[in-house]
Amino acid sequence: MKALVLSGGKGTRLRPITYTSAKQLVPVANKPVLFRVIDAICEAGIDDIGIVIGDTGNEIRKAVGDGRRWNARVTYIPQDQPLGLAHAVKISRDFLEDERFVMFLGDNCIQGGITPLVRQFTQGAANAQIVLKQVLDPRQFGVAELSEQGQVVRLVEKPREPQSDLALVGIYLFDAHIWAAVESIRPSFRGELEITDAIQWLIDHGYRVDPYLHDGWWIDTGKKDDMLEANRLVLEELEPAILGYVDRDSQVTGRVVIERGAEVINSTLRGPAIIGENTRIINSYVGPFTSIYHNCLVEDSEIEHSIILEHSRVRDLPHRLEESLVGRNVEIGRSALKPRAYRLMLGDNSSVGVL
Ligand code: DAU
Repeated sequence: MKALVLSGGKGTRLRPITYTSAKQLVPVANKPVLFRVIDAICEAGIDDIGIVIGDTGNEIRKAVGDGRRWNARVTYIPQDQPLGLAHAVKISRDFLEDERFVMFLGDNCIQGGITPLVRQFTQGAANAQIVLKQVLDPRQFGVAELSEQGQVVRLVEKPREPQSDLALVGIYLFDAHIWAAVESIRPSFRGELEITDAIQWLIDHGYRVDPYLHDGWWIDTGKKDDMLEANRLVLEELEPAILGYVDRDSQVTGRVVIERGAEVINSTLRGPAIIGENTRIINSYVGPFTSIYHNCLVEDSEIEHSIILEHSRVRDLPHRLEESLVGRNVEIGRSALKPRAYRLMLGDNSSVGVL
């Protein structure tokens, strides 16, 4: 069995972080979401992986490489424009051939991996399998309607008035009948070839599409609050480990990971939290649900429930930083310059809350 990971597209909802970089590489608990996807695929015993890439392809190639880190083989499949999930499948035919495959959206984060799901599909007789999860607001997802017998009867992409609360998780399994489906469908109202339409085509033509109810958590990491929520959930499952240096004046409590080369000086760390490689925490408080990535500095400040990306510096903050997603190479700090004023350099579509 092969795997197809979709890592193209434009990360409009995570702007400005994703203007210049891939949203799939934003880390959750200090590991890019895309790496978590590849981990799950490899754990399910699949080592032949195609990755669909778009504008941010070079960055993804650089981060993932040839797959050696996972003992897997990675093939990159460039998509000129993000014309839809079914379009991404269509252009991957040479790679996938007629084998059964699992397709995994590179920005989805799920609890518990995909091993049971892959096993069920390989051993069963379904032509396709979709993963469903009950959600509070299904309008932002593909939505599935099931019959009384539990069969999938209808799929609608982002319906205004959803007929069920079962959202389509970004993990799908297909056999070779998907090729006829993606060749037959037409672009939707948003101009994309929708995978939901391709699966509906399979249902309408009498093929068997089985639902799989996922009972762990699932986050589509498209927006800031979703990233923070995924971060919270993953941190809660983290195995504590102190691989860096903590001085005697510091206190570390709860589920905390301090990665290699990190230093904690005269600070309080309250887990769940993770401090990245070569990051320094000095005279500071790092509270629950915080991930600080590699090569950062936090000095004379307090941070909680936040994600800080690499090479950023947070210094001398008069108030606690909370519920924030801070990009790469960002400097946040007090300034001694007069007059006293906020001096900001923010990307387009940034959002800042001040006291
Ligand atoms: O996350 C689950 C949802 O994913 C499903 O419930 C929806 O039915 C499905 O359409 C999809 O909706 P999104 O609007 O969240 O998809 P998005 O545009 O964010 O793309 C998902 C991933 O696929 C993302 O990593 C980018 C990649 N992609 C997307 C498009 C449109 C591609 O590689 N190529 C593309 O053409």
